[in-house]
Amino acid sequence: MDKRKILVTRKIAEEGLRRIREIFDVEVSSLDRNLTQDEIVEMVAGAQGLVSMATNTIDRRLIDRLTDIRIIANHAVGFNNIDIEYAREKGIVVTNTPGVLTEATADIAMALILCVARRIVEGDRLVRKGGFKGFYPTFFLGVELQDKVLGIYGMGRIGKTVAKRAIYFGLKIIYHDIRPLGGECLDFPAQYVSFDELLKESDFISIHAPLTKETYHRFTKEEFRRMKNEAYLINTARGPLVKEEDLVQALKDGWIAGAGLDVYEFEPEVNPDLIQLENAVLLPHIGSAASEVRERMSIVVADNLIAFFKGSSPPNRVN
Ligand code: DGY
Repeated sequence: MDKRKILVTRKIAEEGLRRIREIFDVEVSSLDRNLTQDEIVEMVAGAQGLVSMATNTIDRRLIDRLTDIRIIANHAVGFNNIDIEYAREKGIVVTNTPGVLTEATADIAMALILCVARRIVEGDRLVRKGGFKGFYPTFFLGVELQDKVLGIYGMGRIGKTVAKRAIYFGLKIIYHDIRPLGGECLDFPAQYVSFDELLKESDFISIHAPLTKETYHRFTKEEFRRMKNEAYLINTARGPLVKEEDLVQALKDGWIAGAGLDVYEFEPEVNPDLIQLENAVLLPHIGSAASEVRERMSIVVADNLIAFFKGSSPPNRVN
């Protein structure tokens, strides 16, 4: 019997590819960049499976052109890049890669909290520019984490893991989500608060909610105005949860103290004003960028494809 064809839109870790290649006829894009929709359509001809990246926008227009595709295995935990409802209408199963990047992403959120509070990246820049003229008591002060309040927006897997890490640094945890989590879901101290209380009481707000119609631009001028002037915003989730031009204004005008970002509203573009601001720490979407994690993500992608074509329900179906 002919092997089924799978298109992988960008090179992924070897172990997952090896597993997919054992069973399927695999084409991995050799273009070392994000594919356009037209390129996907061209390369996908004859394929029944598509391995997409979070950078591939798979909207109605593209789905209508994916005539033979039966499964889209997204190589990401987030799947806001895919119109999953329309895919379901068209009989296409969509899967993601949850669980395997939780700790790594939580590490990056924690790293950003430390960077903004203790001005770590700014300090590195200063030393390299020859600006370190010696220690003195009022030099380069940041804020300590002990007894500060960390507000988690979205207490899912990653939010919980950030909270657990933060507790070891002496932070107190409050959180907001669609609803409070039952006690059995939380094995650490954390208080549920309204969104307004989260804004007003947090010294750090760390975003861990998915990007949906409801969470799009959840953080705008209005929210920054309600935050403490000493507060920091951390975003390792998805850029469009934050209206970036409003964040720039909040950072420039001192409505909040700083921001640590791994994701951007118009990724990979970064607002040029953000780049000029000393009180913003900017990372290039590296939440899950650890080699062990990317290997596990590739294996999850393979498991989803293999289960689907064997006729079982893929473990990480999202639609
Ligand atoms: C994810 O898995 O959602 C990461 O952001 C990488 O896309």
